[in-house]
Amino acid sequence: MSSALKSIRALSDQTRLRIVALLERDELSVNELQEATHLGQSRISTHLGQLQEAGLVQSRREGKRTFYRTNQHADELAREFIQLAIRAAKEMTEHSGDQINLKRILARRREQAQIYFNQVAGRFDRVYGPGRSWQAFGHLLLRIVPPLVVADLGAGEGLLSELLARRCKQVIAVDNSAKIVEFGAKKAKKNGLKNLEFRLGDLQNPPIDAESVDLAILSQALHHAEEPAKALKAAYRLLKAGGQILVLDLQQHNFDKARELYGDRWLGFAESDLHRWLEEAGFKQIEITIVAREEEPPHFQTILASGVR
Ligand SMILES: C[S@@+](CC[C@H](N)C(=O)[O-])C[C@H]1O[C@@H](n2cnc3c(N)ncnc32)[C@H](O)[C@@H]1O
Repeated sequence: MSSALKSIRALSDQTRLRIVALLERDELSVNELQEATHLGQSRISTHLGQLQEAGLVQSRREGKRTFYRTNQHADELAREFIQLAIRAAKEMTEHSGDQINLKRILARRREQAQIYFNQVAGRFDRVYGPGRSWQAFGHLLLRIVPPLVVADLGAGEGLLSELLARRCKQVIAVDNSAKIVEFGAKKAKKNGLKNLEFRLGDLQNPPIDAESVDLAILSQALHHAEEPAKALKAAYRLLKAGGQILVLDLQQHNFDKARELYGDRWLGFAESDLHRWLEEAGFKQIEITIVAREEEPPHFQTILASGVR
């Protein structure tokens, strides 16, 4: 509760009237108030203390700075005093100068953000942005995924499977490495993902019932298959009518060392081959796009292929 006596005392100084008038429009730091009024820092701090004490001004800390503003939760009495103070401040000779300075300070604040974004425009996607990551985008995109039954074929330790399991109805992760399946299953259990099941099997004949899943994913797995066309046919079989296949793989490349370095069976795929195999498997609405190119040599490019059963 504010007190009339305290408010009258707090407003009995012309500088404090100026400060109240400056803090009506937006919050300001002590430095900004100093810039607007050309008064000393310690004087401003003392005045702010008295105004706060009377409940006419509020403060908010952000990092190392404190911002002040007229009390936005003031009761009726305090609100009346704030309005009176502003009226009185308007009668002072300093008022117009204070307001011009205030406008400049607020405009500069807005510009600071714009200057940064103007500077990075055109390369914004490549510069560091605090908190911005593909992982975060992945979580965001997951929120728009309906509760699907998903088969992650050649799932590895389940990086993608785990992400999907947080949103989907069920995820079946298939891999032909017993060690990877064991590790992935343990990790899923530890993370409490009961709807994620690891199965040992080959992506050319996955241990999943026919026509039982909504989405089949092969992420960097197809180039490990002995017969990629057969793997795509197998994926078609386990999809429900209307189900979708998504293949992330490498665009055909000449980096021969990928065989020994990453155990790759194929050096990526030509888009035309992928398209043909998907068509032969029975898929409709086939779309194939290059979605990423690595900056470092050998500049691997990622293909995203999709089709509907
Ligand atoms: C490059 S990793 C991709 C893992 C995961 N999909 C990802 O995107 O992070 C390829 C995985 O496919 C598995 N794999 C290779 N040949 C396979 C096959 N014929 N059947 C099932 N899994 C296979 C490997 O064990 C490995 O875990």
